[in-house]
Amino acid sequence: MDSNTVLFGVIGDPIRHSKSPIMLNRAFRERNVNGAYAAFHVKPNQLENAIAGVRGLGFRGLNVTIPHKIEVMAYLDEISEGAKAAGAVNTIVNDNGRLIGYNTDGIGYVRSLKEEAEPDIAGKTIVVLGAGGAARGILWALAQENPAAILIANRTESKAKELAASFSPDYRISSLPWGDLRAACSNADIVINTTSVGMSPNVNELPIDPTWLKSGSVASDLIYNPLKTAFLLQAEQVGCKIHSGLGMFIYQGAYAFEYWTGQPAPVEAMREVVLESFV
Ligand code: ATR
Repeated sequence: MDSNTVLFGVIGDPIRHSKSPIMLNRAFRERNVNGAYAAFHVKPNQLENAIAGVRGLGFRGLNVTIPHKIEVMAYLDEISEGAKAAGAVNTIVNDNGRLIGYNTDGIGYVRSLKEEAEPDIAGKTIVVLGAGGAARGILWALAQENPAAILIANRTESKAKELAASFSPDYRISSLPWGDLRAACSNADIVINTTSVGMSPNVNELPIDPTWLKSGSVASDLIYNPLKTAFLLQAEQVGCKIHSGLGMFIYQGAYAFEYWTGQPAPVEAMREVVLESFV
């Protein structure tokens, strides 16, 4: 760090568990960017001041995590189409004083799915389990890949209906009763768990019975703690290709790095440093 160091950070509440600082600082080092990235514990009643601080101190970029991803939009100058569709911002670019909000979670998820499990999503049938913020965050990015259908199933069916209805019919997103999941999963090419079921410490819980999945299909989980959920471990046993949520975390950071610096992200170095931090 010196007098030319450009500042970045992540705000959230809580924030001390975040692996973004080690991941982004490693990326800056790898690409010789004179940048520094820190974690800031910002309570909801300080959000407006925190964004004013970004402007005042001339931070180049900020990541935004729970619980600020929705509320932060009120303090920005422009919101990207993808962030509008996701209903949330996780990355801010400070473009000469103009704060632009993006959502790199959805596109990060899709890039990791393509790199790590299914390069060609076009024409595929996708089942999404869950209809909360995490599901909303990936739907628009998935729809951009032109799948044959995206079926959302949620324990509380009304939320799945509402979420599906919030997208244009062109995106081929519809809802599915939870009771129809068995048949839908046996036909699906990709099944994605966006629910919190299986997240540490409840590592033995399953969102659905993995024996419903078609052998050779992709089972994907947004959860990355644990790295392999019970859903993925059992899906692997029935012959599925599995895809962990860690990739989404790495690639949402990779896109943020690319928006801020204009350089390709050093994805493997970022993955390596995050994996090291788990042990
Ligand atoms: P997030 O913003 O992380 O998606 P959320 O909005 O609280 O979190 O959504 C959690 C999702 O997990 C919801 O789809 C929830 O289903 P409900 O809408 O029926 O609550 C789903 N979920 C949580 N626990 C579940 C369980 N035991 N079985 C099935 N779905 C569950």
